[in-house]
This record gives sequence, structure tokens and C-alpha cells, in this order.
Amino acid sequence: MRLDRISVTDYRNIAGASFAPGRQLTVLWGENGQGKTNLLESIWLLTGGKSFRGGKDEELIRRGAPFGVVQAAFHAQDRDQELRLTIGGKDSPRPGRRAVLNGSDRGRAASIAGTFTAVVFYPEHLRLVKGSPEGRRKFLDVALCQLYPGYLAVLRRYTRTLTQKNALLKQYEKTPDAGAMLDIFNQGLAKAGEELTLRRMEYLDQLKELAAANYRDLSRGRESLAMEYLPSFRPGELYRKLTALRSAELGARCSLAGPHREDVEFLLSGQSARTYASQGQQRSVVLALKLAEAAMAAQVTGEHPVMLLDDVLSELDEGRQSYLLTRMEEKQTFVTTCDPSAFSRTNGALFLVEEGQIKEA
Ligand SMILES: Nc1ncnc2c1ncn2[C@@H]1O[C@H](COP(=O)(O)OP(=O)(O)OP(=O)(O)O)[C@@H](O)[C@H]1O
Ligand SMILES: [Mg+2]
Repeated sequence: MRLDRISVTDYRNIAGASFAPGRQLTVLWGENGQGKTNLLESIWLLTGGKSFRGGKDEELIRRGAPFGVVQAAFHAQDRDQELRLTIGGKDSPRPGRRAVLNGSDRGRAASIAGTFTAVVFYPEHLRLVKGSPEGRRKFLDVALCQLYPGYLAVLRRYTRTLTQKNALLKQYEKTPDAGAMLDIFNQGLAKAGEELTLRRMEYLDQLKELAAANYRDLSRGRESLAMEYLPSFRPGELYRKLTALRSAELGARCSLAGPHREDVEFLLSGQSARTYASQGQQRSVVLALKLAEAAMAAQVTGEHPVMLLDDVLSELDEGRQSYLLTRMEEKQTFVTTCDPSAFSRTNGALFLVEEGQIKEA
């Protein structure tokens, strides 16, 4: 995967900017609030996904402009391709994110998922280590959705049934045939849930080897990272477990087992990272994971995703920075920074971002 050129119009604080990135490392530097993360975000949108910052699509359009455009030339699946992404406001004739790929209108941007692939590190992802289990489940689900198109459909089915079941549990006494309905929901949840948990466990099994190797190198062999999936049932037994939990679920008024109750545990040299990891160690865990996620995608699809690393070097010691800088030069990588001095050791292409404009530095 290689981004050759990108032009951004009326996007966040960028009225118009265009640049041709380096084949390996591209450094976007500038003072706070100038548009570095905005540029990284505009590259991420080419994946068809929504912004990694959350929020509404409309917030992406430059204030006062009717719509925003991100246009890119990239090399993928052994050919040069072109993608034009438009972001329209609620009242525009083409609302939301829409994609035109190689001249053909593909409708909603989500439909081009898998065409241009990227892995993003955004400082908020540090919450993966110390935050709630939901964030860790989401990390796995997002990665699996990009790799296996069928995963999203099963996930949606599971989530829908779960919502219905929880609604039933809240109205149980007032609902006729509630017992039979609950059983039908449990059958549906068991079928989809077994598949989701199995996929997550298989994925994590491979990911953890790669992440452990990354972490070992990042810490120059001083610390080790281990990961373990914590399932809520034994394979093949989700239906039985849900049946056994019936009275507990009626008390709790929610479904008590299945992929929505599971978690991933990170261990740093045997200790819980959730409890003990320092700032730099949390950052190292997330980076080790993100690099592993990209390597897994490369194995499955045959193409290494573009790496987008927002403010990645802060809090890391000299050794960890050096290791990352070496890794950044292997694959096409975009980094943002307020202080380009660390990158002077690399032969990355340097661009200055100032008030939404970009200049070769
Ligand atoms: N829809 C929008 N229209 C106009 N400006 C916007 C819009 N959305 C965000 N901005 C502005 O974009 C500016 C730059 O944001 P960005 O997050 O890219 O900065 P940055 O260069 O990454 O800064 P930092 O070094 O602090 O991370 C912010 O000041 C913000 O107010
Ligand atoms: Mg930023």
C-alpha cells in the first residue's frame, strides 16, 4: 500500500492543501493547532472508516464551507488507483462520506473498506491499556472487521439480538411467552457469540506473538509483553451457560455471558499492565499492538497498511524512540510532531504544517 498524492479541500482547518508524501517516512511538523492531526485524519478517511477522533462527519467540513473533499492517488493491488471522497453536510444533496473509486461512484464510503488500508495510532488509544474492557473488545472487532468482511455481519446480528434480549429481560413478567422468547434469543446469541469469540481468540493468538516480539525489541529485551483473551464460556457451551444463568439474568435484567462480557489481559513481565504500567509502558504496549495489527493485515491481505502515527514519540526514552524510528523507515509511515529534531536522524520527507497549509520544509 502506498499513498502517492493527496489533496484536501475545505476539511477541518484546511482550505486547500496538497502534497506528495515520501515512499517511507513522512514527517508532518508544526506548532499546536495548525492541522497536523487533521491531515493524518484525512488520510485515514481513505480507508472508508469514520474518523478515529469520533464525532460527527459534519465536524470534518471546514466551518462555513458546504462540503469537504479528500482526493488521493495511491498504489494498491498492484495498480495505480484514484479515490475521491466527499463529505457533505446534513442538508447537502450528497450528505455524509461518499466515495468515487477509479471514476466509479461507490456510494457510501464504508463500501470501499479494504481498498486503501491503514493502521492508526492516536494518543487516545492509550486508554486501551488502562481503560474499560469495551475499548479492548472494540480494538479486536475493528481489526477483524477490516480483515474478514463476514465478521461485521455476525457482530451486528449479535448486538441486535442482545438489545432485544435485554429489553425482554426488563419487561419479562409483563411479556406473554417470555420464557420461549428468551430461549430463542439465547439460541441466536449462542450461535453468533460462539463465532465472534472464536474469531477473536484465533486473531489474538497470532497477534500476541507479533506484539510480544515488537515489545521485546522496543524495550531492548528488558521487558516482556503477554496477552490473554478472557472468554466468558468454554467453546461450544455458550447456549448451555446462558440457560443455566437464567435466574441470575432475570435478577440482573441483562445478558451475563458472551463476547460482550469478555476482555483481553495485558501482562508486562508477568504483572497486570492495567494496574501497573507506566505512561511510557502503556504507549509501548499500544505501539507494539498497532505494529502487530499492521503485520497481521499484511499476512492476510498481502499488502502492508500505511502507518499513521499521531504524536508518537513523546514519553518514550531514547532507546525506544530509536527503535521506532527504524521501524518507521521500513513501511510508508506518516508521523506528526511539534519537534522535528528527533527525525533529523532519518531520511524522512519533512513538511511544515502552518494554519492549515502544508509546505515542503
Ligand atoms: N470543522 C472545522 N473547521 C475549521 N477548523 C477546524 C474544524 N475542525 C477543527 N478545526 C481546527 O483545526 C485546528 C487544528 O487541529 P489539529 O488537531 O490538526 O492540530 P495539530 O496541528 O494536530 O495540533 P497539536 O500539535 O496540538 O496536536 C484546531 O485549532 C481546530 O479548531
Ligand atoms: Mg495533533
